[in-house]
Amino acid sequence: MYLTTPIYYASGEPHIGHAYTTFLADTLARYHRQAGADVLFLTGTDEHGQKIQEEASRRGMAPIELCDAMADRFREAWAALDITYDRFIRTTEPEHVGVVRAFVQRLMDRGHIYASEYEGWYSVHEERFFTEKELGPERTDPIAGRPVERIREKNYFFRMSSFQEALIRHIHDHPDWIHPESRRNEVLGFLNKPLEDLSISRPKSRLAWGIPLPFDEDHVTYVWVDALVNYLTASGAIRPDAPAGEQGFEDVTGSRWPADLHLIGKDILTTHAVYWPTLLMGAGLPLPRRILTHGWWVVGETKMSKSLGNVVDPMELHTTFGGDALRWFLLREMPTGGDASYTPERFLTRYGELSNVLGNLASRTTSMIVRYRGGEVPAAGGNGLDDAIRAALQEVSSAMEELRVHEALAEAMALARSANVYIEQREPWAQAKDPGLGGDLDETLATLARTLLVLAALFEPVLPRRMADLAGSLGLPGVPRLEEAVTLPLDTLSVSKMGPLFPRVDA
Ligand code: MSP
Repeated sequence: MYLTTPIYYASGEPHIGHAYTTFLADTLARYHRQAGADVLFLTGTDEHGQKIQEEASRRGMAPIELCDAMADRFREAWAALDITYDRFIRTTEPEHVGVVRAFVQRLMDRGHIYASEYEGWYSVHEERFFTEKELGPERTDPIAGRPVERIREKNYFFRMSSFQEALIRHIHDHPDWIHPESRRNEVLGFLNKPLEDLSISRPKSRLAWGIPLPFDEDHVTYVWVDALVNYLTASGAIRPDAPAGEQGFEDVTGSRWPADLHLIGKDILTTHAVYWPTLLMGAGLPLPRRILTHGWWVVGETKMSKSLGNVVDPMELHTTFGGDALRWFLLREMPTGGDASYTPERFLTRYGELSNVLGNLASRTTSMIVRYRGGEVPAAGGNGLDDAIRAALQEVSSAMEELRVHEALAEAMALARSANVYIEQREPWAQAKDPGLGGDLDETLATLARTLLVLAALFEPVLPRRMADLAGSLGLPGVPRLEEAVTLPLDTLSVSKMGPLFPRVDA
């Protein structure tokens, strides 16, 4: 299982949007590891191009100094948020630079690249081109209002247009390739118009911060081509130092390519579902198996933006509520693939589910096993929640496979709810008072202990810290895998009292 997040621009701090995609990837990675898969989970930083060059000069730094600092910021954030990536890629790494150069050379050798003139309205101040529409009637740049010039420059172009038919066919032949369906339709709509060729270079005289083209060192690779290739670099498929013909383009066996899943936000759908697959077709490489596009986090009803000053800092919520609660909120609240809104009230409601349902069940169960049976789980035949457990396992697994992560989490929570109802019905406190009901109490406690084990495994992908705490108070060294949770003999547990998993927080 090879899954990826976008690589985030090294020009800004990690925010809640980045955290969402990365949590989603981490939860899927943990889930597949639990199921026994060999997982490669990739994330990293996108470090070349105009954005980075500009931000570095604004801060009076060299581009690489900015990238070093920001790559550290992302790694720190992911460490604090318990992200279990296997590889953190930086596009300034020598290995990646080599793969990008080999990749564009390959496209050149196969006749998919040509040089031509690009002509457009250029703002020297903004250092970028604007379209006629963006300029408006005044012909001034829409950002600073300065004059623009008509310039022509040499660019290299990728013959993207020649892959339009093949891409449309691929999308039709693989109905699940782009998830959800609304995004698939969006891409098909885009492909209704003729596809243009893609400019894949910038003259070094205008933009120095990029990977030079191997066949013309006066030009650097367009940052999106550079960035997309990161997925290939990390797969280990391409060996740029090998002689031509043996670099891995002919045969990817033995590498992790193709990726099983690219996770992206809807802002970068075209680059991933049009540029990337056509570039891969040009290089003669297989396409990624699936692309999951998610929606947008907004704040209340407003877009999150630096200029509005309403960007939600994931680290602040993390400090108050803990990383698990943040993960839970983001993954439970956003229907996977859709949009969602952050408000403090929604956050507290979701937090309430953790403390009132799951946390409450865990503390009631462990304290009863300690109080009534000295921490040992009684051997008892029968399990009053067998059906509920079986149904939860089934529902969670199909929801995860179908990338409905929010529903998988809802199903797991439903099992915790059933267990709370079971406690109310069985009234173990009454069973404990009546010596004649000792066998019933044993069954109640054994049922609840088994359910807690299963819940620890089911929730581990989204609540890794708290589930490790729970496993600890059941006397286990770590959270059991699902399979073990179902079969582990209960007399191997040794239960101790624990503090609340999700303590009350005063709003
Ligand atoms: N560097 C490119 C991606 C290159 S991938 C080969 C880029 N970087 S980014 O830093 O802008 O990150 C974009 C991604 O961050 C989005 O696709 C999405 O995954 C996540 N999000 C950023 N803001 C977001 C929200 N407000 N809501 C949800 N996710 C968003 O684009």
